[in-house]
Amino acid sequence: MKILMCEPKYYLISYEINPWMKIDNQVDHVLAHQQWKNLYETIKKIADDVHLVEPIEMLPDMVFTANAALIHNNIAYISNFRFPERKDESHHFNDWFTNNGYQTIFYDKDHTYYFEGAGDALFMGDLLFYGHGFRSDKEFHENLKTIKNEHIILCRLIDPYFYHMDTCFCPIDDKFAIWYPPAFSLESRKAIEDKIEVFAVPENEAKHFACNAVVLGKHVIMPANCPETKNHLEHKGFTVFECDMSEFIKAGGACKCLTLLLD
Ligand code: ARG
Repeated sequence: MKILMCEPKYYLISYEINPWMKIDNQVDHVLAHQQWKNLYETIKKIADDVHLVEPIEMLPDMVFTANAALIHNNIAYISNFRFPERKDESHHFNDWFTNNGYQTIFYDKDHTYYFEGAGDALFMGDLLFYGHGFRSDKEFHENLKTIKNEHIILCRLIDPYFYHMDTCFCPIDDKFAIWYPPAFSLESRKAIEDKIEVFAVPENEAKHFACNAVVLGKHVIMPANCPETKNHLEHKGFTVFECDMSEFIKAGGACKCLTLLLD
């Protein structure tokens, strides 16, 4: 498994585009570097390859590579960010994918519809769970039909604290996922429960980003302070690694957001 990450060289809270971000609640740089490095080293021990994209000054959220694109069959479906603060990330990520042998597709760059990559589109076996409501537009999923067509499950997000699908839903294997149900509309909850087996993380753990985990085979790398979720996964036979993510939670992200699965 190959992963893309971006060092937090220029990472800080310089704007507020989700309810977690407060310019007054600034990042501790030394701690953020330590936390990122620890995550990087933990993933490196398990994944085949961890690639790095060059961080760009004035693009602090580039650390959250999950939002770069959605990758499928060596094609990078490049994000079309909703907020102007993140828009310039797209061409830097596009360059990285092009230089590294990926075909890139940049739908809707004239801004009809927004799409925030693997942050809102999560594969699970034969299914693609697509979160919309805050960042990605529902209509954009039409562009992804070439990938999964009838297997796209549309999920409407309703809680602004869980604005990306990967903040409240995490496929653990082909059949089982962890999630935070109150983040979804009732209809979407039902659609999800009809398709797969789920474990609901408690509210306090959801707020520690329990669902923002990186799953590599039987290994799960998840944020600290989520004991109930951790126990549940261990009982299911997974090996869980905890990483302190306090400085990234200040921007509304954690382990999974800081990574992009390349294949
Ligand atoms: N500050 C970033 C934003 O609001 C955090 C992105 C987190 N990424 C994710 N895939 N959930 O866009």
